[in-house]
Amino acid sequence: MNRTRRLRKTEGIRRLVQENKLTIDDLIYPLFIEEGENIEKEIVSMPGIKRFSLDRIHKELDEVVALNLPAVLLFGIPAEKDDEGTETWNDNGIMQQAIRYIKKNYPSLYVITDVCFCEYTSHGHCGIIHENDVDNDATLVNLAKQVISHAKAGVDMVAPSGMMDGTIAAIREALDNTGFANLPIMGYSVKYASAFYGPFRDAADSAPTFGDRRTYQMDPANRDEGLREATFDDEEGADILMVKPALSYLDIIRDLKDKYDRPIACYNVSGEYAMVKAAAEKGWIDGERVMMESLLSMKRAGADIIITYFAKEVAKVLLKR
Ligand code: PBG
Repeated sequence: MNRTRRLRKTEGIRRLVQENKLTIDDLIYPLFIEEGENIEKEIVSMPGIKRFSLDRIHKELDEVVALNLPAVLLFGIPAEKDDEGTETWNDNGIMQQAIRYIKKNYPSLYVITDVCFCEYTSHGHCGIIHENDVDNDATLVNLAKQVISHAKAGVDMVAPSGMMDGTIAAIREALDNTGFANLPIMGYSVKYASAFYGPFRDAADSAPTFGDRRTYQMDPANRDEGLREATFDDEEGADILMVKPALSYLDIIRDLKDKYDRPIACYNVSGEYAMVKAAAEKGWIDGERVMMESLLSMKRAGADIIITYFAKEVAKVLLKR
């Protein structure tokens, strides 16, 4: 008889035949950095995650480095917003200050910036508004200004999240023309218009004041279109392709892993984090085990890299094993 249970009998054999492993090296930790002073504000819908001003962030960064996490993904929350999000390309803006601060004080930490406008625009959309919708090509012009400003500040990688068509080509060209040919781009290639971003929009003050993001982010019903999006990013020269959210889109992660010979990332988003935290708080699930199992499922689906608010907790679990 075929007996699959033979290879499950003890911890030793289970370790030997385990096909996928979650490691600290897989993880990117997002950070919310707010312009101002003396800010350390808990985000209510994301227990354990805070918004920091730069003068209060050193403890958090010390911990990230001590846990040997390789990388952080920065989100900036500016003091002033306007209708174009001009602060995004201010060489002295909060993001640029944060890049310089981290690269100076934590040179081993790999710094990635989220490149978008929604935290910076008064209307909360991911670009310039024209006739009640985001103007794609006008937004590309500003995106180029934003990435060049991040590059000058010393960022290690940029990650455009706005889902404008032609983003990767525009950014690649802008970087190449300004002496940053070696700066890599992680594309938010397949990003869905998802209800799972709810807590993030509180965290980053980035909810749209009118309408929604369905004219630029993808319909959760679509799979072929995801491949099309990823193909464009691949052809335009994105170095890493990302799927977002992660848990409800594991099939898309696998599609990309099978089809493209580039590293695949996924974003375990705020709503996925909040659900686990809330259920664990009620005692309805074992939060630590559900965290480890769901992140492992992303690896199994094909993700090489996972962006997750759980990164510090996962690192602690892995270090005590
Ligand atoms: C900005 C952006 C969003 C997220 C990452 N970058 C929000 C959005 O598209 O509305 C979501 C992250 C999360 O939910 O954890 N465009």
